[in-house]
Amino acid sequence: MADAYVPGLEGVPVTESKISFIDGKKGILEYRGVPIQVLAEKSTFEETAYLLLWGKFPARGELEQFDQELRSHRRVKYGILDLIKCLPNTSHPMDILQACVAALGTYYSARDVADKEENHRSVIRLIAKLPTIVAAFERIRRGDEPVRPRDDLSHSANFLWMLTEREPDPLAVRIMDVCLVLHAEHTMNASTFGGLVTASTLANPYSVASSAVGVLSGPLHGGANEEVVIMLREIGSVEKVRPYIEELIRAKTRIMGVGHRVYKVKDPRAPILQRLAEQLFSQKGESPLYRIASEVERVVVEHLGAKGIYPNVDFYSGIVYDKLGIPLDQFTPIFAISRVAGWMAHWLEQMERNRLFRPEEIYTGEHDLPYIPLERR
Ligand SMILES: CC(C)(COP(=O)(O)OP(=O)(O)OC[C@H]1O[C@@H](n2cnc3c(N)ncnc32)[C@H](O)[C@@H]1OP(=O)(O)O)[C@@H](O)C(=O)NCCC(=O)NCCS
Repeated sequence: MADAYVPGLEGVPVTESKISFIDGKKGILEYRGVPIQVLAEKSTFEETAYLLLWGKFPARGELEQFDQELRSHRRVKYGILDLIKCLPNTSHPMDILQACVAALGTYYSARDVADKEENHRSVIRLIAKLPTIVAAFERIRRGDEPVRPRDDLSHSANFLWMLTEREPDPLAVRIMDVCLVLHAEHTMNASTFGGLVTASTLANPYSVASSAVGVLSGPLHGGANEEVVIMLREIGSVEKVRPYIEELIRAKTRIMGVGHRVYKVKDPRAPILQRLAEQLFSQKGESPLYRIASEVERVVVEHLGAKGIYPNVDFYSGIVYDKLGIPLDQFTPIFAISRVAGWMAHWLEQMERNRLFRPEEIYTGEHDLPYIPLERR
């Protein structure tokens, strides 16, 4: 038994996996051996999800079938919509999502995780229904009725349709799709690990996904993209960047959207998002936030680059979503509707050779203490 405590399990492998690979020094990310840049340029979310789940690019017929299955499982039960309506519309959308994903499990008999056909259906349902839940909450909290999913649209186009009830713009669809590809998987991150801990008890996949959604919601993980936009808005102008960032560094306050446990160079997804952002701004008009962000990157790298602190994926994703008109607190739910593909890929892999996660702790308390009667304490 290992007796060295490693805070945050840094560098401690918790599983073996064939799903994705990171080289944090060279800035490499691959899904099933395929570089992320290639997938961002040539693939779609549906095809990438298939690749992650089943370890190979689908043949045409396989992709069509998978896509068709996703399209036909987009609708959620009225009970889920009623649940959303019952919960406070001031809730954070991640809390709504976590509750609704857990509630999905009440509708489907997925308790036998040895049943491969049911597992397949669960994976399809989760990937297909998360966007519907996210969009439904957005509509309901604005006082509108949820928009029914359309099965003539791609995954990304349908999500934008359900959010706005407007025919989605092709550039917005492509950008949303690339964002979903970029966020779909990232080795053993906190939410994937959280999901796997739940999975290792043989809990149903809806519990696995809802655990992962909960883990993703924190600002040190998925919540960072929201914090980045808050910070950029607070900075307000390019001239104010240097004093603002230098003050954060002096006060040893975390700067959101930079730094990463594994990457010690710029996150390979960040430049892809930067290019998307530039494309978006050239068509839809400049974003002052982008100019502020570029300056933040320059000042952060100047001061903290030597420590391996560079922008991560969350640094530019929020700016893109903001320009697409997506509300700030929906950024992390969008991360979840993408990452669910990775969570489910890990769940399927774990089910092939499961062992309960049951780590150790190093006890630092006292022993053999006497019971002190209440009146003598
Ligand atoms: C992601 C993150 C939690 C990883 O942290 P970690 O691996 O636990 O790194 P540590 O906390 O050990 O930090 C190592 C050093 O880098 C510094 N550092 C790490 N992230 C930093 C940040 N965002 N801003 C300023 N300094 C940072 C730490 O202060 C520490 O400095 P020190 O050695 O002088 O004490 C961290 O970089 C962070 O909080 N980033 C902001 C949140 C974010 O963007 N999350 C999304 C990740 S995709």
